[in-house]
Amino acid sequence: MTISIKGDVKDISLAPRGKDRIEWAAKDMPVLRLIRERFEKEQPLKGVRMAGCLHITTETANLAITLKAGGADLVLCASNPLSTQDDVAAALVSVYGIPTYAIKGEDDQTYYNHINAVLDHKPEMTMDDGCDLVSTIHTTRKDLIDGIIGGMEETTTGVIRLHSMENQKVLRFPVLAVNDSDTKHMFDNRYGTGQSTLDAIIRSTNVLLAGRTVVVLGYGWCGRGVASRAHGHGANVIVCEVDPTRALEAVMDGYRVMPGVEAAALGDIFISVTGDLHVIDQAMMERMKEGALIANSGHFNDEINIPALEKLAVSKRRVRDFVDEYTYADGRHIHLLAEGRLVNLSAAEGHPASVMDMSFANQALGSEYMLNHAKELEPKVYTLPAEMDKEIARLKLHAMGVKIDTLTPAQEKYLNSWESGT
Ligand code: ADE
Repeated sequence: MTISIKGDVKDISLAPRGKDRIEWAAKDMPVLRLIRERFEKEQPLKGVRMAGCLHITTETANLAITLKAGGADLVLCASNPLSTQDDVAAALVSVYGIPTYAIKGEDDQTYYNHINAVLDHKPEMTMDDGCDLVSTIHTTRKDLIDGIIGGMEETTTGVIRLHSMENQKVLRFPVLAVNDSDTKHMFDNRYGTGQSTLDAIIRSTNVLLAGRTVVVLGYGWCGRGVASRAHGHGANVIVCEVDPTRALEAVMDGYRVMPGVEAAALGDIFISVTGDLHVIDQAMMERMKEGALIANSGHFNDEINIPALEKLAVSKRRVRDFVDEYTYADGRHIHLLAEGRLVNLSAAEGHPASVMDMSFANQALGSEYMLNHAKELEPKVYTLPAEMDKEIARLKLHAMGVKIDTLTPAQEKYLNSWESGT
């Protein structure tokens, strides 16, 4: 049965394809499936109005179906103008009855109209990927604050913004930093970003990575993942990092480490994953070789100084889907992927379902936890309880058929004692 529900999507007739792809992703999300089965019985989110500002992908659809199964009254919008999978948005609206406001390629005005459309739902709980819902609520939709129990945040950039709000004492409700669970950032940020970023670069350019020099800017969890996967493809990897400990780690992981301007003349492919502004700046772009590729896999598109690139170029043309070729006055061609937007979700499908299974298990259990504990929480940023994080790891191992040892009582006692020494 198909139902017609509110939303703003590109083309509702894409829904059957979206449904098939959502079901395909579901096969690789066993932890979320277990949560959904429990939610269906227990209805822990019954009647709770929720607004999600997330990348509208097959994996997010499975999270949304899980929350709805738990009784949530959920609406969704995109958390990036280029990351929406239009067939998924169509299926969410017409097959699963979840109002969704998301169109791939929407302009900034539409992006914010969509955010405001989900806020018109008067959410009691928010779910963000990048903090755009929470920041909009705290600036132009303050009337909603009193009705909000709390929220969840998916990504590093969003958590950084939330900490800044907390430090400035402007945050008005508690938010769970889902990103900070081990079962999120150690897997999604590292293996998810590592694979999906290279997937997007390869899909959009068909470039061979073996033998190429790949410059990775940023050596957090995402940078570590991108560097290790590029190395696995046979690329020569250079890491640029401002944090001395992380830079040292990159050196000891076997990479060359140097400032961005030095790497600029050596690299064939540049990938920024820092979460900061103008990490690939004019000075780097001036030194790049003929044919260089530039991609960003951080949350916002300001990691690359695109206005500077526009100024350096005498002309620009689209040479393939998601590839813009900028021509300099001296004839060099520099290629910007996905308009500098996060390349893995714009030019590919984002992280694979298997890794989003854990991230979204954290989101689903996090929303239940927030509902049950919000009264005890202050308007601050919190992490999920460590035991919940471990349980998600246990369930994932179980689903993968991996068994592990457990401590003997003697070992537990030993670990909790201090008396015995040399
Ligand atoms: N972030 C990165 N990959 C994603 C995906 N596949 N779905 C939702 N959010 C994501």
